[in-house]
Amino acid sequence: MTAKMLNDNIEYLCEQSDESENYSLNFVGKKYAKYLCETDAETKIIPDEAHNNLSENINSNNIYIKGDNLEAIKHLLKTHRGKIKCIYIDPPYNTGSENFAYNDNFKRKKNHLIVSYGQTSCNSAHSAWLAFMYPRLKLAKELLSPDGVMFISIDDNEVDNLKLLCNTEIFGEENFVNCIAVKMSEPTNLKMSHQWSRFPKLKEYILFYKNYGFKKFTCIDKYKEEKWDKENNIFLENMTLDKRQRLIEFQSKEFYTDIDVKEVNKIFHGVKRIRLIDKISELGLTGDDALKWMFENAYRIVKTVGAKAYVPIVKNLSKLPNQDIGALISKDNVLFFYITDFNTKAKDPRFRVIFADENIYKNPCDFWQDIKTSGAISDEGGIKYPNGKKPLKLLERIIKMTTEKNDVILDFFSGSATTAHAVMNINAKDNGHRQYIMVQLPEKIEPTSPDKRAYIKYLEKEGIEPVISDIGIERIKRSAKRIKEETQADIDYGFKIYSLDSNKINDI
Ligand SMILES: C[S@@+](CC[C@H](N)C(=O)[O-])C[C@H]1O[C@@H](n2cnc3c(N)ncnc32)[C@H](O)[C@@H]1O
Repeated sequence: MTAKMLNDNIEYLCEQSDESENYSLNFVGKKYAKYLCETDAETKIIPDEAHNNLSENINSNNIYIKGDNLEAIKHLLKTHRGKIKCIYIDPPYNTGSENFAYNDNFKRKKNHLIVSYGQTSCNSAHSAWLAFMYPRLKLAKELLSPDGVMFISIDDNEVDNLKLLCNTEIFGEENFVNCIAVKMSEPTNLKMSHQWSRFPKLKEYILFYKNYGFKKFTCIDKYKEEKWDKENNIFLENMTLDKRQRLIEFQSKEFYTDIDVKEVNKIFHGVKRIRLIDKISELGLTGDDALKWMFENAYRIVKTVGAKAYVPIVKNLSKLPNQDIGALISKDNVLFFYITDFNTKAKDPRFRVIFADENIYKNPCDFWQDIKTSGAISDEGGIKYPNGKKPLKLLERIIKMTTEKNDVILDFFSGSATTAHAVMNINAKDNGHRQYIMVQLPEKIEPTSPDKRAYIKYLEKEGIEPVISDIGIERIKRSAKRIKEETQADIDYGFKIYSLDSNKINDI
């Protein structure tokens, strides 16, 4: 076939295409899912008067809704349309082991889909999940403020469908921001038992979408490296926090003159270089104590690196008296620090000085592997919630980076209420007034396996009903109490509880 014939064929086929070939995502139940977006809420909101009238809750702006989230979103649209800055959700991943809860009459079970639509068992599960998510995401987007953002946790089972759904039906591809990979587990023996048939799964994803007006983060949640970079091996005797602060101020200037160099050299006057290892042994520190001390003293610990472009500038200088470190300006007007007695004969001498406090803090990129997901997280909030609790740090990062002090944050698959806990923590840190709205089905935990029976026993001991909304509510109370004790911060520790009553129709 010639190139022309091929071109003609392609043109012909394009002309013959109809709407069914449009780039789109199709699934059984899509029409019904769209219909659900049009219908009104069918439940009545019942306030928990006894709880809401307690002194700690009566003036609170935080909200806990017990009920199906599609109903909750429909109610919230009447009060919060365009007002929510950040939505985080952690929906069921459709792993086959969890039941995602249809309280919206879409009770097509797998077998029904297989028989009625000739779907394979696998396709039907995807269709059912998409039909469940579609109206919730479509309507939740309407709650976002113009500069609002949505973060959705998900894993390999539905990440492709979710992204396509969000790109084609909910946000538009232009509002996709990131697919963040989050390291969620360690390569334990159990994980590694699959190592011969596939690479063991350690990560999940968070899809990050924005509304049209979102421009940038409110701040960057820099994190500290766990391990000490051994290249940071020089201790600066006589370097004080105040001196380091003044150096940082100089470093952030836009243009440098010789006067700046003189001033900076004055700061370095009397500062002595010694080996870090010697300083640590002088202090008698070992192990974790030494590590802790190094991180705390990073402002007076440095490493040296090569900087070929600066060699001609430093090589011909006469030595500065009583000074181990000096300052200079590069040809392109960069202020840099150097060790004054470096080996001038070396081919690529390491003379440029970098402070450890500049390189032990990292910017989070789209692979979050710094957040601890095992061990201590099971006790976060003073309550265990196996198989599903997200690390507090993960929510804190999202909230810190995307919200300001008066913003509203919504989580409509809230589980153990990690999001509410994170909002209180961030408020306590910056005296904020952020409000949270949590939605959670009053889903009963059934004793269907030994693990679940053990968990129910644990809940009994803690005096908590085996109902997920009760777990979330208790976590909020416990974490509020703890934050108050630990910080004494003057923030909103209370919350109002509302239930959605399906026997009473539509009357707020
Ligand atoms: C994976 S958990 C969320 C865990 C949460 N991120 C945490 O850190 O604890 C998902 C939650 O969504 C809830 N859920 C599922 N379908 C729901 C629905 N239609 N309405 C409200 N909640 C629902 C489940 O009961 C479950 O608690």
